[in-house]
Amino acid sequence: MTSVRAPATAAPRRADVPAIVEAGIRGVSMQVQDLALGFGSATVLSGLDLEVRRGEITALIGPTGSGKTTFLRSLNRMNDKVAKHWHRGDVLLNGASIYAPGAQLMALRRRVGMVFQRPNPFPMSIAANILAGVKAHRIAGKEHYRDIVEARLREVGLWDAVSNRLNSSPFSLSGGQQQLLCLARALAIGPEVLLLDEPTSSLDPVTTENIEAMARSLVPALTVVIVTHNLGQARRISDRTVFFYQGKMVECAETAQLFEDPREPETARYVTGRMG
Ligand SMILES: Nc1ncnc2c1ncn2[C@@H]1O[C@H](COP(=O)(O)OP(=O)(O)O)[C@@H](O)[C@H]1O
Ligand SMILES: [Mg+2]
Repeated sequence: MTSVRAPATAAPRRADVPAIVEAGIRGVSMQVQDLALGFGSATVLSGLDLEVRRGEITALIGPTGSGKTTFLRSLNRMNDKVAKHWHRGDVLLNGASIYAPGAQLMALRRRVGMVFQRPNPFPMSIAANILAGVKAHRIAGKEHYRDIVEARLREVGLWDAVSNRLNSSPFSLSGGQQQLLCLARALAIGPEVLLLDEPTSSLDPVTTENIEAMARSLVPALTVVIVTHNLGQARRISDRTVFFYQGKMVECAETAQLFEDPREPETARYVTGRMG
């Protein structure tokens, strides 16, 4: 082949549109390029390619040990501090490598926030939890703290339950309330991308439903990547689903397609419950 012609439908590229804006126009928030990752001699993930679409919810499913958490953590470089961690390939955020030399971890974690499987409130008051990131990143002045605390707690539906004990320890809250607090804390720094690692696995059905509704309400303003072992949850809330198996992405598709008409036999076995 000697010449490549742009498809007739391609939008004309304006010379004054920088690449970063163009990435936004295309609707890709994060791009994973031939990523491999491991610890010491163990290779945990290999050959991963993925486009995380902006303003959508992407669900990561797969059996325990298939690498979902490790992958999620690679999206904001949480594996960096794990002993003997290594990676090959790249992860781009808005077209720029998050692993580039000189990339600022603090700035990255402000843009790509995370909520973990187990609620992990900080050992400080409820209000101070909400403000921890706001202070660390100097997002607002003291005079705004009260309003930020109230707005963020209202956003996750916790305000009525905690408004009279903002200076108390968060450890007196129920597990579900603690997780909502962690979600509010993550949202308070205004991330572009929110990573959720099985955020409802230890919660009751009502709180689970709240968190699912919340996740839906965050898009399209935010981009959400959620790990879940709850297939019903992936179907209910995600736009696209990725199936992980043995450290590889077997299949990535529109959620309805992946569940109803999977391309790969391993995906079919998993989504029909014939594989753990
Ligand atoms: N720090 C580590 N050192 C060595 N192996 C690890 C480390 N962290 C995770 N693994 C391995 O990576 C694999 C994937 O784990 P994980 O990402 O937690 O899977 P999942 O979230 O899908 O259950 C597992 O086999 C696990 O033992
Ligand atoms: Mg996991």
